[in-house]
Amino acid sequence: MDTKIQTSTRCLDKKAVKIYPDQEAASVYVAQRIAQMIIQRQREGKQAVLGLATGKTPIRVYAELIRLHREEGLSFANVVTFNLDEYYPIVPTHEQSYVHFMHRHLFDHVDILHSHIHIPDGTLSPEIIQEYCISYDRKIEEYGGLDLQLLGIGRTGHIGFNEPGSAPDSTTRLVDLSEITRSDAIDDFGGEDKVPRQAITMGVQSILKAREIIFLAWEKRKAEIVRKALEGEVGEKVPATYLQNLPQVEYVLDKEAASMLQRQEWSDR
Ligand code: PGA
Repeated sequence: MDTKIQTSTRCLDKKAVKIYPDQEAASVYVAQRIAQMIIQRQREGKQAVLGLATGKTPIRVYAELIRLHREEGLSFANVVTFNLDEYYPIVPTHEQSYVHFMHRHLFDHVDILHSHIHIPDGTLSPEIIQEYCISYDRKIEEYGGLDLQLLGIGRTGHIGFNEPGSAPDSTTRLVDLSEITRSDAIDDFGGEDKVPRQAITMGVQSILKAREIIFLAWEKRKAEIVRKALEGEVGEKVPATYLQNLPQVEYVLDKEAASMLQRQEWSDR
């Protein structure tokens, strides 16, 4: 295949796939992308609206953002954040809550205003959750929509906690967690019975509205689901497939997570 044909194949597929030797290098790249966006918005006198993810995957991205804040003066004063999801029910002080996670891994170490932080509330009574979820999506719209959404992927193919079966037009809502997702959280919670059965998650539609989406995956344990997400049939069985062919999506992988991809054109971008 000559270079021209390869280029047009990539263009048709509209996928940007970056494969790094390790997650450290990939995370530095992603943090730079986020920092540039924040700085650009500062220059325009605007807020930067970020959709943030939790889990092991983005931890080094957040560590690099903290370093940029401490050592290179990156300010988060104009940053507004919306987290993808939260367990339900859970109190914010619980060690495994995503409120706790975000403060520990990012917010406590940068100059973000507390009033700019939005994380789904895991303490609400069931009767008011639906209304709350509608208001969560509405608030994102009031800020002008997400400039950039960071995404990991679960072994089920979930994005946020949109598990298999989630519709492409789903909005923020209360969902049941799949058994695989719950079993992946057993060690963190210290027992199967302690893992919440539900979560509040931004919907697929809420996620896909973001003007830029950066999809992250590292390590061998993600290789199989990454292959399905990028190369499998688009549909509700693997919600991450909904990202395929969207021009605003960039996939950032390490070598191991990319190791089962079959299309050669991904690896030479
Ligand atoms: P992980 O989770 O980053 O801990 O692998 C990702 C996810 O479930 O979305």
